[in-house]
Amino acid sequence: MANMTLTRMKLMNPLEKLTRDRQSARSHEDSNADICFLSLSQDGVPSVRTLVMRDVTQEGITLFINKTSHKWQIIQSNECAEALVWLPSVQRQYRVSGRIEELGREVIESNWHRRPVGSKYLDYSYERLAPQSSELEARDSLVQFVRGLKDEIDEDDMSTPEQAAGILLRANAVECLDLNSPERLHDRNRYTLENGSWQQTVLMP
Ligand SMILES: Cc1cc2nc3c(=O)[nH]c(=O)nc-3n(C[C@H](O)[C@H](O)[C@H](O)COP(=O)(O)O)c2cc1C
Repeated sequence: MANMTLTRMKLMNPLEKLTRDRQSARSHEDSNADICFLSLSQDGVPSVRTLVMRDVTQEGITLFINKTSHKWQIIQSNECAEALVWLPSVQRQYRVSGRIEELGREVIESNWHRRPVGSKYLDYSYERLAPQSSELEARDSLVQFVRGLKDEIDEDDMSTPEQAAGILLRANAVECLDLNSPERLHDRNRYTLENGSWQQTVLMP
């Protein structure tokens, strides 16, 4: 086997790189700029779902979910998670892994009112009709229920539901696969947080 020397160096936070790429993707009207695919697992059973990335901070990715959902039940038993971000317009894939933490109530309070109106009524329905991800007898029961809710409560009178939640995927590792190099010699790097500073390792793509 060839004598290989691992390249490891101390460097800046890779989440800043993701933030810049996301801004670039937005300027290209990349439909993936604002979403990620969140992978969780419970008792060895994997599951993945698309979520809107509310923010990418120095610490990780923030997301808004509802606590009545199946994913929240999973997070209660296993907070380890990985989010995949693929930005076709910049030809880079990010895998952000770490642990899920619940954000303070004030974060969701200050953001919930900016949700699209349909999403607000859906959030109310999770608490008053059926939990998110639960089985419905018929789709029409939801349609009728939301119609009734709209007659009963004006959007301006809605308050943030108890079960609406914000979460942070606090990153302890980020992997970036960059497809921009010629001849398919992709550039792949893993960044790991060690004692508070990010370390970079070059990976075989
Ligand atoms: C483009 C897109 C964005 C989505 N954004 C969110 C989101 O921000 N929060 C959320 O709870 N579900 C979002 N969903 C729905 C989830 O993918 C998922 O269906 C739902 O949360 C139920 O997941 P669960 O059964 O794992 O709890 C989105 C779906 C799509 C296709």
